[in-house]
Amino acid sequence: MNLRTEILSTLRENIGEWVSGETLSEKLNVSRTTIWKELKKLQTAGYQIESSTKKGYRFIAAPDIVSPEEVLPGLGTARFGKEHYLYFTEIDSTNNYARKLAAENYPEGTVVVADKQSAGRGRRGRSWYSPEGEGLYLSLILRPRIPLQDLSRLSMVAAAALATTLEEEFGLEPQIKWPNDILINGRKVAGILTEAVTDMDGIEYIVTGIGINVNNEVEEFPDDFRTPATSLRKELGQTCSRVVLVQGLLYYLEREYRRVVSGDFSPILDKVRKISSVIGKRVRLDDLNGVLVGKAIDIDHNGFLWVLDEKGVTHTVMSGEIFLLPPA
Ligand code: BTN
Repeated sequence: MNLRTEILSTLRENIGEWVSGETLSEKLNVSRTTIWKELKKLQTAGYQIESSTKKGYRFIAAPDIVSPEEVLPGLGTARFGKEHYLYFTEIDSTNNYARKLAAENYPEGTVVVADKQSAGRGRRGRSWYSPEGEGLYLSLILRPRIPLQDLSRLSMVAAAALATTLEEEFGLEPQIKWPNDILINGRKVAGILTEAVTDMDGIEYIVTGIGINVNNEVEEFPDDFRTPATSLRKELGQTCSRVVLVQGLLYYLEREYRRVVSGDFSPILDKVRKISSVIGKRVRLDDLNGVLVGKAIDIDHNGFLWVLDEKGVTHTVMSGEIFLLPPA
């Protein structure tokens, strides 16, 4: 444990009570000035800690920041986030950083999170609006030993895990807009950017980047007429704990990921089919081959979408962007 973590856990053990600078300095074996400097940093980071020259320090409340001190004590995973959990107050893009780490051989389960992204990236070259402290911006390194053709299954993992987190931790009823947008009441609350690096032997690594609108004021979002946006706060009518969100998300990501790498894709597929916002709907699909209009009829065991076109031909689609159309 580092000094910051030790100070926090000592103060939390004595929540509501005063702990003197002397007690802290003796327990942690550092000078009182060092304790005082660390406490100042914690207060600047948003911790509500009272200080009194006579009585010492008293813990009042923690800020909702996704730092290791806040997230790791309640993290119920075996690997994800346990060995390497890198937290930044600001970064260009957590996916960029995670890709750099992956190229330096950081292991599977390495997590990069930030309070703000200055160049957050979305799918199809778009940017991802990432204001400070309002959203969750997280990237995870994976090194699955699965054939390249199973890659689409992996992108379903993140969507299924995120949907389960929103249901279990916040009581919401999300939908998945294939392949991996998360909607609530028809509005986009989260997006997933899966980036794979492959070599001759198959998948070298994958970086799964997840962006969630958590406590954002929806009115502040930049205009995007393709996908109206929402946030968890807007849907729930109250602010949400990003700490609880990241803990739940990593837990369910690990669970679904383990299933898929051990060949057990059925529970994920069942989930994705059950809460799909596209199956049974008339859709327009934009992909590299052009535009396809038809009815989305199923998602198969590879994670591919089946679209029945107006001539009665079924197309198996691996990726692309879906627009829901009104019934013909
Ligand atoms: C989408 O276009 O829907 C995908 C958005 C993915 C955004 C996340 S935020 C964390 C990670 N870092 C990035 O730069 N992008 C992803």
